[in-house]
Amino acid sequence: MPNPDSQPISLAAPVVEAFFDPATHTISYIVKDPASDACALIDTVMDLDYAAGRITSDSADRLIERVRDIGLHVTWILETHVHADHLSAAPYLQERLGGKIGIGAEITTVQETFGKIFNEGTEFQRDGSQFDALFQDGDRFKIGGLTARALHTPGHTPACMAYVIGDAAFVGDTLFMPDGGSARADFPGGDAGQLYDSIQRLLALPDETRLFMCHDYGPNGRAIQWETTVAQEKSDNIHVGGGTTREDFIRFRNERDAQLKVPNLILPSLQVNIRAGKIPRDEDGRPMMKVPVNGL
Ligand SMILES: [Fe+2]
Repeated sequence: MPNPDSQPISLAAPVVEAFFDPATHTISYIVKDPASDACALIDTVMDLDYAAGRITSDSADRLIERVRDIGLHVTWILETHVHADHLSAAPYLQERLGGKIGIGAEITTVQETFGKIFNEGTEFQRDGSQFDALFQDGDRFKIGGLTARALHTPGHTPACMAYVIGDAAFVGDTLFMPDGGSARADFPGGDAGQLYDSIQRLLALPDETRLFMCHDYGPNGRAIQWETTVAQEKSDNIHVGGGTTREDFIRFRNERDAQLKVPNLILPSLQVNIRAGKIPRDEDGRPMMKVPVNGL
């Protein structure tokens, strides 16, 4: 058993707290440096009642309460990708807790695609400038004494990033729990072959790496879970475990995606999340969203 004190600081294990949102099955995380009060927030959620056009902040307020309770200092608010199933709470949290908002640099591709679909005007910048940091594959950044590394994992979307922080990796929508398989790859810019390759990069991390999911739907009635390991995914994942080939994965994934429904909140989520979580406004400055008819 190696003495943890003798390990370099970059291998330190972050303290991870998970917050499950039952409305969207999203898991948000507080990732804390064990040696300081620094933390990062990952994949946060604003609550949306789409039918009523009402946005509330109960989920985000729970995070704020916890951060303040234990006296944490937020250094980063990270997105693993542009989510299509919930609104990000990044700007709401940044205003109250500080921290820099970061996402993968390929966000510009996603902004280009959905800028067209939503017929955004020239005031909508497609350069990622709504975010404080755009990560390239391999970029490193600090959370107190922890070193985090951005790992580009396209396939579900072009801008997907996993964040490897100490002995943990936050995988976004690439892998699900072993009995959940993998994320869909049929959104504009998605690609099943790329997703397979990205998953292989995650499975190449050390076997004992703790993997934290962005979503869990509790398949077959099991209780919600969000944490597994590389070793468990490699052996048990129902879509990629046990050495599934790239060709078999692509065939299976494409067949399956053709049967999946469009996510309930995709239209509001994309409009907001391509703006780093800010609500679009109409010409009079009122928060307003669009529905492109037959546009997706
Ligand atoms: Fe997603």
